[in-house]
Parts: sequence; C-alpha cells; structure tokens
Amino acid sequence: MKTNNETLWWKNAVVYQIYPRSFCDSNGDGIGDLNGITSRLDYLKKLGVDILWLSPVYQSPGDDNGYDISDYRAINPEFGTMEDFDRMLSEAHARGIRIVMDLVVNHTSDEHAWFRESRSSRDNPRRDYYIWRDADSNGNPPNRWASAFGGPAWEWDETSGQYYLHLFSRKQPDLNWDNPSVRDDVFDMMNWWCEKGIDGFRMDVISMISKPDGLPDGPEMPGGFTASTCCNGPRLHSYLRQMNERVLSRYPLVTVGECPGAGVEEAVLFTDPSRRELNMVFQFEHVSGSTQGSTKYDKWDRPALSMPELRQILSKWQYGLEGRGWNSLYLDNHDQPRCVSRFGNDSPRYRVLSAKMLATCLHFMKGTPYIYQGEELGMTNARMSEIGQYRDIESLQTYDFLTRQEGLPEETVMGYLQAVSRDNARTPMQWDSSPNAGFSDGTPWIGVNPNYTEINAAAQMDDENSVFAYYRELIRLRHTLPVMVEGRFELLQPDDKQVFAYMRTGSGEKARDKQECGKEGNCRPEDRLLVFCNFTRETAPLPAEVSEALEAGASRLIGNYPGLPEGQLRPYEALVLRDRKDG
Ligand code: GLC
Ligand code: CA
Repeated sequence: MKTNNETLWWKNAVVYQIYPRSFCDSNGDGIGDLNGITSRLDYLKKLGVDILWLSPVYQSPGDDNGYDISDYRAINPEFGTMEDFDRMLSEAHARGIRIVMDLVVNHTSDEHAWFRESRSSRDNPRRDYYIWRDADSNGNPPNRWASAFGGPAWEWDETSGQYYLHLFSRKQPDLNWDNPSVRDDVFDMMNWWCEKGIDGFRMDVISMISKPDGLPDGPEMPGGFTASTCCNGPRLHSYLRQMNERVLSRYPLVTVGECPGAGVEEAVLFTDPSRRELNMVFQFEHVSGSTQGSTKYDKWDRPALSMPELRQILSKWQYGLEGRGWNSLYLDNHDQPRCVSRFGNDSPRYRVLSAKMLATCLHFMKGTPYIYQGEELGMTNARMSEIGQYRDIESLQTYDFLTRQEGLPEETVMGYLQAVSRDNARTPMQWDSSPNAGFSDGTPWIGVNPNYTEINAAAQMDDENSVFAYYRELIRLRHTLPVMVEGRFELLQPDDKQVFAYMRTGSGEKARDKQECGKEGNCRPEDRLLVFCNFTRETAPLPAEVSEALEAGASRLIGNYPGLPEGQLRPYEALVLRDRKDG
C-alpha cells in the first residue's frame, strides 16, 4: 500500500463505517460477513472513502452484536476466518483503503477466558481483572448504578459470593483498568493487531475505562441510565497516554475515541496533539435529543433536537476545537436512528433533497467526516411495528422495562423504539431491488426495510442526481479543496430559524515550501466557502450573504437543486458558494 509520511494523513480522510452483520452476506446464512465486505470494496472505492471502520468482528457470543468479545485475537466464525480477514485487509490496501478496527476494552464478554478465570474463585490471579464488590449489609448491590441497557449494573455471582460490575449487559463485565496487568494485556493485543497491518482503532466507550474512586452513586434515574457517572474518571487520561506511548505512537494509525459524557474541554484533553492521546473523539451532544423540557427515560422520551439546537451544538464544537484539537463529524452510526428520518424528511417528496442537505451541512464542517453504511443512499428508519421484529438488546431490555416495570402503554413504547431504536440503523444494506435487497440469499438476521425496492445502491450508482452521487462529490471535494480541510469555521446568521449557514475561510492551496512562497507565504490565495442549508420544508428568505457573495464574484460549488436560487431558498435546499481570491 502506498505509504504516507505525513503523520496527520487522516485529516483529509473520509471514513465509512461498516456494521458487518448487516452489510453483505456472502454465504447465504443471513449474516453479513468479511467475504461480503471484500466483495463490495469496489463499491466503496467508487464512493471514494479512505478508511473503513468495522464494528467488531471478533469472537463473541453476540449478546450485544459483537460488542461483547470473548477472544480479541480470533474472528467470529459467523463472519469468516482470519484468512478471510487478511484477504480483506490486503484487498482494501490494494485499493488504497485503510481499515480501522473497533476496540472494545471497557468490558469483555463474560465468556472471555479472563472472566471465566476471574469468576472461578476469589483468589484466582485474574480476580482483579474485573470489578468485584461485596453485597451491602442488606445483600443489595454496592451502589445504585444501573446499566446503560436498563436494570442494575451489578450481577450477583453465586459461586464466589460477590457482585461484578457491568455498565452494559450482564454479559459485558467491566474490566478493571486500575490493574496494570489488564493494561499490559490490552496493549499487547493492540500491538498484535497493529503488527498485522491494521490502520487504526475506534475505541468503544473509552471515556468509561477509569471508574470514579469509591464508586459513588450518581443522580438517581428510573431504569437507571447511570453509566454516565463513569465517564471521564480520574485516571482516564493517564491510561490513554500509556496506551499512546506503548502502542499508538509506534504505528501510523488513526484513532477515534467514543466518548459519551465529553464536552469540548474534555475533547481538547483527548485530542490536543501535544498531549499524545487520541486523534479525535465522537461526542454525543448533537445525537442525545433536546435538553429543553424534562425527560424521565433519557434518550427514549427526550424531544427531538431542533435545527437551532443542532446548530448551536455543532458550531460550539467547531469553535471550541479550532487550533486545539480535531473534530469527528457524524450524524449516523449503528447506535443512532437514520439521520434523514431524524433531522431531515424521509417522505418520498423530500427524502433525497433532505439527505443531500444534511450531508452538505456536515461535510463542509471542519473535522473528519464519518459515513455510516446506507447513509450515502439516504436509507431511512425501519419503522418496525412489532416488538418481535427487533433484535437489539438495548431495545428489547428497554421495552421490557418500560412496559412491565414502568407500566407505560405498548403504543408509547413502540413509538419510542420507532424513533430512536438502534435497530433503525441495523437493517440490511440495500444493494439492489432483488429479494432481501441483494444483502443475502438466505433469511436475513433482521428484516430488510421494505423500501429497498426504491432505495438501493444499484439504482443510484449511475444516477448523477442520486444521494450516492452527491456523497461521492462531497468526498471528491474534500480531497481536492484544502479549505474544506483546514479552513476556519464561522457561523453566519446564528439566529435564523430555518437556515443553518456558515463559512469556511482558509488558503486555497496546500502550503508550498517557504522558498517558493517567500517569507510571508503569500503565494497562497484565499479561499472561502459559504454554506447554506434550509432545514425546513418551507421556502426561506434568501440570506443576504448569498447575493453579496455572488456580486463579489463567488460561484456555485455544489447544491441539491439545479442552478442558483432566486429570491428564496427552496425546501431543504443546500447551496455552497465558493469565493476564491488570488493572493
Ligand atoms: C458503544 C457501542 C454500542 C455498544 C456499547 C457497549 O456505545 O457503539 O453499540 O452497545 O458501546 O459496548
Ligand atoms: Ca454470512
């Protein structure tokens, strides 16, 4: 593979996330697999992405679809073999595409050898690999912490007579990162994958690895979504610096930490290059629903985020990390509902327009964009209406808890699931209009969204007006316009109720060497991009900046309607103007 000596090679890259179970099934068992991914590399090459992040493909009993790992150095046979993996890696590299692995080390599966040993007796050498505590004087768990999937975060172990901590399912016991042997073993495992030639890590809930001293109770919440109490613990950054020293700094990797609970200032601690921790983080503020109004059940009953709130959050992150850290940019992933259904409009009339508008809004910001499989086709929420159609452990446990323990009406709970269940993102990738959307010859492990006959890759790949073609163009622009990568972000008309508008300003060319440019470096022309996104189905008054820029000689760079708007922005219109001043 072509080597890149620049250490910050990932700054102008676009990442594509694959949820292997739902991407492409090569052998008809209904489960997507590694050979399926390999068979679709040309599709991804055509789209133009630089990096693939694979959700976990390791050995796992599958309680949380692979986020419960029982052997970090083996491939789940459902997905194939290590040979299949190696072949996929080299085929990807041959196309100039890099592979990022999901690193799930806040917890393991309860079927991991470490946990089997740990639970076997109190004096087993691996006892302290996990977080064990005595019951309180009434035999109850040591604190009120609840798992992110509902129910207590503590599970009683009969054999050894103690509770163990699991911030997620009871089959995902939390590792004890305070134990240096745990860190040694994790770092060894990471080095092993790096030696294999992988190109980076996406680190699952990495902000939770250091637990607060004394495991104090947090605020009480029904159903207890208290995993957040464990974010940003006291030794988090020292563990990440160790990881950097012992693993990350030794290879040309890209790293992104999934960081629930991180605000801008924490994100700087993670991503300021001089601190030598991670390259970027996934923050959650813009996908957590509105903070206006009260919520009893966390993400489930939170009102949706309005455009002004979304704009306020995303621009805060743009300003906050400028010159200090680096943003990741995402609207979709395997834990979130589909962005076109959530922030856009997935009705037949506006789906394509609003999917392109959202892509425009995100991809012109500063940071590294992430595309989740199917987002580039404008795939929509699944709208599954029966609980039997759901597969996700979080959705199933929450359904149980809300209907049985909290006594909420079935209808209400199904409404919550339809809006924000993780299964919305996990229905099979829609390749073509043949049975099962071309995903599998067998019976898919989760139902295909019936709209596949219309929304699918085959129908879009050669259509220049498709969502796919639009993403492809956005990626091409990022690869060719330095201002898209490096330019400063500035919000325009911050109070507008319909239009999210901003500007990027920077140099029009990659910095040439000093000699060529003279001392001032003034051979770099200035480049400006003005981005206007109408988030509503109504027309919006044309922002003054549009006509001003056009009069000053700017031209249309990309948009989701043909030509320039006249007098007003059309429903869900996205328009980007480019204003290039030769210096
Ligand atoms: C992360 C993953 C999610 C998983 C959880 C526990 O949030 O993205 O899918 O359930 O961690 O590993
Ligand atoms: Ca398969």
